[in-house]
Amino acid sequence: MQHPHLLHIFSPTKYVSPFDINMAYEAKFDAVIPYCNVELDEIQALTQDTIFSRSPEGVRRTGIFIGGREFDLALKMLAAARAAMVPPFAVSVMADPSGAITTAAAMVALAEHWARKKGGGDLRGRRVCVFGGTGPVGVCTALLAARCGADVAIVSHQGRGAALVAADRLSRAHDVRLDGLDGSSATAVRAWLPDIEVLFSAARAGVEVVDADTLQYGHRLAVIADANAVPPAGIAGVGVKDKGKALALADGHELSALGALAIGDIKYKVHTALLQQMYAAPSPVFLSHDEAFATARDIVARQKK
Ligand SMILES: NC(=O)c1ccc[n+]([C@@H]2O[C@H](COP(=O)([O-])OP(=O)(O)OC[C@H]3O[C@@H](n4cnc5c(N)ncnc54)[C@H](OP(=O)(O)O)[C@@H]3O)[C@@H](O)[C@H]2O)c1
Repeated sequence: MQHPHLLHIFSPTKYVSPFDINMAYEAKFDAVIPYCNVELDEIQALTQDTIFSRSPEGVRRTGIFIGGREFDLALKMLAAARAAMVPPFAVSVMADPSGAITTAAAMVALAEHWARKKGGGDLRGRRVCVFGGTGPVGVCTALLAARCGADVAIVSHQGRGAALVAADRLSRAHDVRLDGLDGSSATAVRAWLPDIEVLFSAARAGVEVVDADTLQYGHRLAVIADANAVPPAGIAGVGVKDKGKALALADGHELSALGALAIGDIKYKVHTALLQQMYAAPSPVFLSHDEAFATARDIVARQKK
């Protein structure tokens, strides 16, 4: 085969996710080559081995995908790969560790859409909390919501201290201001939930972080979004297929619910669109959370409902 489309996947983890390999073949790459246990200081050499061996036409048909489990490490790896390019030997690079960036982009874009639909504007100035906000999906969700102008707090089931450590690290790395909240018990959550307008759950799969009684304290909630597809739901009462479904609290207050499959549908489209952009780009593109979010917003805006 002449000038095949090649995607090299660099991952700091023991395995490259089969999800990412499947998605790359679906996006029509001819070969997808995984590299495991990759360290940050190895990215430059790997990138330069990737670029210098191809013709000008081959370079256009080569991409690098950064996987793994950590958001900030993936961004550093993307930056290191970008810095290692020697034009005209330069290829496209996309980061999406654990699907976190495309999932967070989908979840925040959907929440923004439904917040607007419910009235009261988009996410600007809204009180937002992110359960599981110390994990990869949660970190990126918190960052994107903050970039939308929301007043964001990371929630940790290990308590406010752990949440503040993650919030502080993210705030300093990305020039945003995040707070931390205590998610260690229903009592702790009930103390601050009445102030929250948009609630994201990006906690570990199969873990309920907001039970049905606690949700009743969400008197100001406009949108709740749950990324977890593994029963039980992360937020009691949210169905995996919910796409802005109206959910009424006992006091009559109504909010919109977003479930994991509705989020996953947009995530899949964003992931595919970004891979296709790499595949077809006439000159190198560098794709991370900003590009993923812009794409998610676009896809959500074009949907009928
Ligand atoms: N819908 C989609 O398309 C899609 C795609 C990808 C991922 N997902 C889902 O998104 C969610 C987040 O993924 P991830 O990889 O970021 O998750 P993760 O790393 O497994 O966990 C995220 C956070 O959950 C919290 N957590 C762990 N055990 C907990 C417990 N027993 N009770 C409450 N919180 C607990 C931890 O934060 P603290 O210890 O600080 O609380 C952890 O950092 C998962 O449910 C995953 O399945 C959905």
